[in-house]
Amino acid sequence: MNTIKINLFGESHGEAIGVLIDGLAPGIKIDLDFMRAQLDKRRAKGAISTPRHEADEPELISGFFNGHTTGTPLCIMIRNSAQHSGDYAATKDIPRPAHADYSAEKKYLGYQDYRGGGHFSGRLTAPLVAAGAICMQILASKGIHIGSHILQVANINDQAFSDDVSTLAAEIAALDKLYFPVLNEATGVAMVAAIEEAAKAQDSVGGIIESAVIGLPAGIGEPFFDSVESVLAKLLFSVPAVKGVEFGLGFGFAGLKGSEANDPFIAEAGEIRTATNNNGGLNGGITNGMPLKLRTVIKPTPSIGQPQQSVNMKTAEPVQLSIKGRHDPAIIHRARVVQDSMIAIGIVDLMTARFGYLWQL
Ligand SMILES: Cc1cc2nc3c(=O)[nH]c(=O)nc-3n(C[C@H](O)[C@H](O)[C@H](O)COP(=O)(O)O)c2cc1C
Repeated sequence: MNTIKINLFGESHGEAIGVLIDGLAPGIKIDLDFMRAQLDKRRAKGAISTPRHEADEPELISGFFNGHTTGTPLCIMIRNSAQHSGDYAATKDIPRPAHADYSAEKKYLGYQDYRGGGHFSGRLTAPLVAAGAICMQILASKGIHIGSHILQVANINDQAFSDDVSTLAAEIAALDKLYFPVLNEATGVAMVAAIEEAAKAQDSVGGIIESAVIGLPAGIGEPFFDSVESVLAKLLFSVPAVKGVEFGLGFGFAGLKGSEANDPFIAEAGEIRTATNNNGGLNGGITNGMPLKLRTVIKPTPSIGQPQQSVNMKTAEPVQLSIKGRHDPAIIHRARVVQDSMIAIGIVDLMTARFGYLWQL
């Protein structure tokens, strides 16, 4: 990213978590109710989420004055209040398989705050949602809308986003009201049942999130290192548990011929568009005016109650680890608003690179 700089601070069981975002224009009226509503989508609810419940009240502690951005670095802090740090003391030397405990121990030489995954906790995505809310607000004022839904959980599939732009706009609007965002209600019920079943078995599940962006003009992005794919993939791979990102048909291109994969150009009422959208609105790293489409794969939550093989990092002895603590049996429904937020931050960066930062107003 060239125009928006973003950094995170805090730990799961520390005093607070937060984000520092630089590159926002002065004079953006921040809608704090919208920010709270976005944070609510990430909040843990019901049997399909961790029993850790946090208030997640955003405090804007710099770069914000009289309801508007000042143009100087904006800092949003969210205090932690529901820590149960005792859950982690007994297993501090036993790395959880597929979590960041062992790699953090190596990188931070044993000085890391291990409680609740420390800086690697999914909790650090709350400030990303707060920053993303400002970017989504900017984009919405320009007619650019982002939406994501759960395309797959375990082996259960939702229908994909429509290729028809007005149907897609309606789908995105409807998703905004859902805590468990799916296009087909019955599929959602089956997915929730699969997550609850995994939770009962002290296990977890993963899945795929599909996202779309509508209202983007053609001509945004750079041909190589700041291609739209490069900028968004970097942001999306920064979300814990995201293990793959694909644009348009992505890996689905592998089995197709050019004659099947290419999107024919057509002119409609003087506007040039493509008849299909297999390339997900991008050619040469640059938007072509069609809806941007991408997918991420979210791995199953690493912390599961079932006994797992690990090793004591101090003694090198093998250990059967049974994780206590409070964990999400699935991350995916909470991650979708994080995904929307990361896409929003990336698109604001790319639009600002093209039009200058006063475009944000
Ligand atoms: C919203 C969200 C919630 C998460 N909740 C948990 C959790 O409760 N337990 C857990 O082990 N991992 C959770 N994670 C995933 C871990 O943070 C992540 O797998 C870990 O940091 C290792 O990073 P990696 O999977 O990208 O390699 C969550 C991730 C997100 C985005």
